[in-house]
Amino acid sequence: MKSLKIFCPATIANISCGFDVLGVALDAVGDEMIIRKVKEKGIRITKLEGQDLPMETLKNVAGVAGLALLAECDYEGGFEIEIHKKIKAGSGIGSSAASSTGAVWAMNKLLGEPFSTTELVKFAMEGERLASGVAHADNVAPALFGGFTLVRSYEPLDIIPINSPSKLYATVIHPQIEVKTSDSRKILKTKISLKDGIKQWGNVGGLIAGLYTEDYELIGRSLVDHIVEPIRSILIPAFDEVKSTSLKAGALGCGISGSGPSIFAFSKGEGIALKVAQAMKDVYQNIGIDYDVHVSKVNIDGIREIKS
Ligand code: HSE
Repeated sequence: MKSLKIFCPATIANISCGFDVLGVALDAVGDEMIIRKVKEKGIRITKLEGQDLPMETLKNVAGVAGLALLAECDYEGGFEIEIHKKIKAGSGIGSSAASSTGAVWAMNKLLGEPFSTTELVKFAMEGERLASGVAHADNVAPALFGGFTLVRSYEPLDIIPINSPSKLYATVIHPQIEVKTSDSRKILKTKISLKDGIKQWGNVGGLIAGLYTEDYELIGRSLVDHIVEPIRSILIPAFDEVKSTSLKAGALGCGISGSGPSIFAFSKGEGIALKVAQAMKDVYQNIGIDYDVHVSKVNIDGIREIKS
């Protein structure tokens, strides 16, 4: 096998209460990439369509993640990478993670799978470091493992795949502004109160229990963020209104997707998720803000090969 064409899913990180530790992969939106094994050493980005992003290997998240993988194996050749971006950069649904995970997942396959999925997470995190200044794993882990994932520990890296309830759907709306993850991290406080901590880890535990027992009410009750959302939501137009109308339309819960500006809601069943999409769209239509909207079931496989 010399080349692979793949689908690299968008992801929702944080999932309200799990800043930097929880994430989920989506099915309805993602990038496409073609990775070719070549004789020449190193990584070259040979095509990049759909977004205005750097093609220099050291400035591109796929390039940097790929180099991290190459540094840990004795393969003498290199790889060429084509990236067809469908996920907008700075949208909050894991655009950089899709590119960095796609590169390392396909390279690993083409090399005969010398690395574990957790090792691939570690390489892809180098792409996140380039994109946001911090090597967080909450987008790259679900893209590589599929479904919901928990980063139980960063040092050592310990990723726990979590059950995905079969009727759970995500609705994501992206108001057409760009929020850089690096900027939306700078505004966060570095200390939290014990009182907020108690509420937050109660919700993380509740969400994990709800995902395993497929208790949709418990999932909804646990989608609360006492720490990050109150600060970041000020960067997102009409956040409170989008959230309240989504809940009125039947969503289980609603919050900021990753570092924003996208807003996500979870619903039980596609019908409610579509109603929530309409409610979200109405808010932005009324105030004249352009948007993209996605309704997606959970992608339990993560990155997958597609036909050329
Ligand atoms: N956990 C990261 C953040 C995700 O919220 O900054 C970025 O998509």
